Amino acid sequence: MRTPQVLINFKAYENSFGPKALDLAKGLDKLSKEYGVEITVSVPATMISRINEAVEIPVFAQHVDPSPIGAHTGSVIPEMVKEAGAKGTLINHSEKRMRLDEIAEAIARSKSLGLETVVCVDRYELVHPVALLGPTAVLIEPPELIGSGIAVSKAKPEVITRAVEEVRKVSGVYLLAGAGITSGEDVEIAIKLGSEGVGVASAVMKAKDPVKVAEDLVKGAIRGMEGRRALIK
Ligand code: G3P
Repeated sequence: MRTPQVLINFKAYENSFGPKALDLAKGLDKLSKEYGVEITVSVPATMISRINEAVEIPVFAQHVDPSPIGAHTGSVIPEMVKEAGAKGTLINHSEKRMRLDEIAEAIARSKSLGLETVVCVDRYELVHPVALLGPTAVLIEPPELIGSGIAVSKAKPEVITRAVEEVRKVSGVYLLAGAGITSGEDVEIAIKLGSEGVGVASAVMKAKDPVKVAEDLVKGAIRGMEGRRALIK
């Protein structure tokens, strides 16, 4: 995973699947190349293969079941998303919660296949225990702000700063922040607070021109990183 990271979670909106999702992913692929900022798309399992064949940006699953290979009807297991072309997966999203033992198993299985893992948590107290499980990144998202248009970086900046403190206790794990992120300014603030990027859904997926909104987010990510570099100097 490259940073700054703009992870766009397609969820299950009307443009999250079929030709509309494909067009959107292609637009985001172009945008990512234009600005040199990594955009990852987490897409419905049914779209992983099609989208992955059409773009170079990383394509993630939105969830994996930790069930073993075998008689588990309906399970979408890490081996399946890997075979479909996914580079990684979200785990434990607020809209797809898992038990801690299931999270641990999903991370371990995904890692053994070379898949990256972004594990969502709803509060900073969970950042450290989850980071100890060795995911690629922990994505902190206060559930009450998801889909609200009220950015975590503006409404609850302390959630990000506390989460950053927690993730730094474990080396090699990134901290991403999400929920209500709408503008480049929201992204810029999230990164200046110490996150390595953001997770976003509704602001992009519900926009009239999703790629234009994503462009604003990408510009904010660049400004955020520049701001951090300036602080270090
Ligand atoms: O996975 C990111 C997502 O949960 C954030 O949703 O709609 O608040 O950007 P949203």
